[in-house]
This record gives sequence, C-alpha cells and structure tokens, in this order.
Amino acid sequence: MSTEHPQKQEIDWEEKWQQGNTLWDHGESSPALTALFKNEETKKLIPESGLGLVPGCGSGYDVVFLATKDRHVTGLDFSQTCVKKLHEAHPNAAEKNYDFRCADFFNFEIPVEKYSLAYDYTFLCALEPYLRPAWARRYSEIIAKDGILITLMFPIDDHEGGPPFAVNEQLYRDLLSDHFELLYIKDAVGHASRLGKEKIAIWKKL
Ligand SMILES: C[S@@+](CC[C@H](N)C(=O)[O-])C[C@H]1O[C@@H](n2cnc3c(N)ncnc32)[C@H](O)[C@@H]1O
Repeated sequence: MSTEHPQKQEIDWEEKWQQGNTLWDHGESSPALTALFKNEETKKLIPESGLGLVPGCGSGYDVVFLATKDRHVTGLDFSQTCVKKLHEAHPNAAEKNYDFRCADFFNFEIPVEKYSLAYDYTFLCALEPYLRPAWARRYSEIIAKDGILITLMFPIDDHEGGPPFAVNEQLYRDLLSDHFELLYIKDAVGHASRLGKEKIAIWKKL
C-alpha cells in the first residue's frame, strides 16, 4: 500500500462504464502491441514468465493477449461495472492464467515478487495530468528489477483538455528515466484511427 501518492481522481470512470460511454474501446488489442511479440528484436526483450499487470485494463483484451502458461496477468480497473462485466465474460480466467481485480492503481496490494511485465495503454492519458509523477513512481515501485514496462503512447498531439490528455515522447522520458532504461521506441502501427499519434516503447526497470 502506498501512502505518499495523491489519490483523488475527478473523472468519473464508473459513470462512463455504467452509461456505456466507452468510445476508447477498439474491441481488440492494438496491433502495435501484438507486433512486439512477433518481432524477434523486441520479443527477446520481454520476460516470458513471472507476473504481468495491465492497469486501467478496460475490456481486458490485453490481459487475455499477454497471459500465457508461464505468465500470470492481472487486469486492474477502478470501475466496479467494468470489472463485473469482465468477471461475467471470463468465467474461466483462472484456467487461462489471468484475473481481473477492481482496484486503484495507486493503492492496490503489490505482490511480493513484483511484476516482470506491465503494459500501459490509454491509461496515462486517462489520468489528470497532476497524477503523472505519481503514475511514474508507482510503476517504479511495482515492477521488479529488470522487469519491463511497455508504454503505447497515445495521443501524441497538443490538444487541450481530456481525457484523453495529450502526451508526447519527452513526457514519458521525463517521467520514467530516473527508474527505467529505454530499450526500444518506434512509431506505432496500431488502430487505424490513431495512426500518426502513437509510439510504442519498451522500458527496463533499473
Ligand atoms: C480510457 S480507458 C482505457 C481502457 C483500456 N486500457 C483500453 O485501451 O481499452 C481507462 C480505464 O482506466 C480505468 N482507471 C482510471 N483510473 C484508474 C485507477 N486509478 N486505477 C485503476 N483503473 C483506473 C478506468 O475505469 C477506465 O476503464
């Protein structure tokens, strides 16, 4: 449990889930994520075992994609309605080595061995900008040494307001560089409607 982070979030994600206001949902994992596991250069950077985490997992596509027999993956989401849907849609999750938990990224119990892999997509941009330093500190606490954080950076533009709040590569570098080494970064070829607005990066915990 972390005590030093600001906790209060003003955006009502539960209301969005209750109203079905989930326009961010593309119905599948981003092709930019799945491509990392097909490319020999990037695949070898990602641990094949241990614990994985997807904060703000939404409909959970990435949790299902990342879980393997050697890697247990937890999808975390704040919204009770979201997690109830996930539990209903995935009655056999345990057999497939994943689970879903309704919890706050900034305040959930960290497993003793910590995470060997975390995936952040449309999560940083969902948070009010004042939470960004806490977001970075939290990843530095929950990822094990030599563990990997994959960030699919979106939306890279300079619009005002949000969510999604605008991001850029330098923002991620500024937030993560104290605790992570950047191993890989590339313009992402993800969902068609987001082309030109995404980069994908692999960071190793120091
Ligand atoms: C924009 S949605 C993205 C969902 C998913 N990553 C996707 O790409 O479809 C952001 C999600 O983060 C969840 N969320 C926001 N703040 C959170 C927090 N502090 N802890 C856990 N989940 C949070 C919201 O409930 C919402 O489902």
